[in-house]
Amino acid sequence: MGCKDSKDVKKESEAEGTFYTEPFRPQYHYSPPEKWMNDPNGLVYYKGIYHLFYQYYPDDIVWGPMHWGHATSTDMLHWENQPIALYPDKNGLIFSGSAVIDYDNTSGLGTADNPPLVAVFTYHDMEKEKAGGTDFQTQGVAYSLDNGESFEMFEGNPVIPNTEFRDFRDPKVFWDEGSRKWVMALVAGDHLQLYRSDNLLDWTYMSRFGAEQGAHGGVWECPDLFELPVAGTDESRWVLLISINPGAPNGGSGTQYFIGDFDGTSFTSDQEEARWLDWGTDNYAGVTYNNVPDDDRIFIGWMSNWTYARDTPTEVWRSAMTLPRKLSLERINEEYTLFNYPISGIIELLNEQSGLRVEIPPNSSEAIVLENGNQSAIHFVSPLTDLTVSFKNEAGEELLLELDSEESLLVLDRSKSGIVDFQEMFANIQQMPLDNLQEGNLEFDIFLDASSVEVFVNKGQFVMTSQLFPTKSFDELIIRNDGNSVSIYPELKTYSVKRIWKNGD
Ligand code: FRU
Repeated sequence: MGCKDSKDVKKESEAEGTFYTEPFRPQYHYSPPEKWMNDPNGLVYYKGIYHLFYQYYPDDIVWGPMHWGHATSTDMLHWENQPIALYPDKNGLIFSGSAVIDYDNTSGLGTADNPPLVAVFTYHDMEKEKAGGTDFQTQGVAYSLDNGESFEMFEGNPVIPNTEFRDFRDPKVFWDEGSRKWVMALVAGDHLQLYRSDNLLDWTYMSRFGAEQGAHGGVWECPDLFELPVAGTDESRWVLLISINPGAPNGGSGTQYFIGDFDGTSFTSDQEEARWLDWGTDNYAGVTYNNVPDDDRIFIGWMSNWTYARDTPTEVWRSAMTLPRKLSLERINEEYTLFNYPISGIIELLNEQSGLRVEIPPNSSEAIVLENGNQSAIHFVSPLTDLTVSFKNEAGEELLLELDSEESLLVLDRSKSGIVDFQEMFANIQQMPLDNLQEGNLEFDIFLDASSVEVFVNKGQFVMTSQLFPTKSFDELIIRNDGNSVSIYPELKTYSVKRIWKNGD
């Protein structure tokens, strides 16, 4: 390999004092030290460590032959870069997948005393793809006996061969307590397939779902299937996440979800229409952690969009992950709704700058100074009224959020937010319908980092995630009341957000 190990890069840049300080470098989101990253992979917790593996091409800042990069954390906020975990081998490149802890050593790949961490992923054989067949994606297994520090490929790979589907990938494996089996969710072009296994190595096909349901504007990718309690009840339901590209509501890549049931064999849902986990253009291929203590269901997504992922204006590395978000299910006006909202630990990163009571008469605005706005968070509760929230900087750039009460719509306009001309779609207006809104106010949490904004409404009932490339810090926040009565914000809070990298301030 002609590339430097990520550890070497880290050491060099730390010595120079330039570690993670390049233009647009996220300060509190995970991004790789250098080169190309896409999907989060193998999210698993073991012995106090949260692993984040990811699709990685170590030789360029555009997509190329895929490896699994690796980072670890004890809180999912502060990350330590690790050496590359999985390299392509004779079966192909290493595409997306998941990881589990095989506590009972069902696979026999470890011992009872030292259970293996087992990664299950897709092999993509470039030669076979070039030959034009439908047999180039298969599923493989690798295992680690030292908590992810090093991996061995399973000798019997591939564990699920394939001759039928061009797109046959992204296995999400979990232990299903109900059937006492390992279950694998896999996508095959336009639908989900479920497999079961006793040992993570021999897999049996069980069922399929979805060819006639949800959105089909593009290929189905990166499934995830899990059970969630319904808040405030004794009930629980199963949730299926499916990423699709293209076909998302604001263009390109996006993640839909289905609420339904899983009986150990089949997933069923009466949901016909797609529902979206995030309405912004930059939250793709997201999946959840296995084995998190307290059964929390934590999601991380890739903060980009295949439509322009290769064109964004960074040079050393490309793209970042979303904040880790806790998923929960609520029944609102008879409808099950999936919420996603930053994990509670995020509080540790927030320093409150101001907490103000703000009263804005109709057709007036209030300006608030943000110190280091591109590393800040804002919280406020607003009545459902016509409202514009804008972030401005001294380069004349502006990020706009507009609440349209009549249409019940939140609009995100990044068309003047900085560098936008690297690809046509990037400057498009993004819209999020606030359907099935409960009576009352809207609670906003907005997180700005050097190249992203994440907007959470009502603690994650409605979410928009978007990349941004402002050339200066957004140091002015302006809230304008476009409605015809006085708007009162009992407590408008602004925070600066701490940098997560160790040699930071
Ligand atoms: C999703 C995806 C996956 C695939 C991987 C390849 O972004 O297309 O389906 O496994 O990226 O890098």
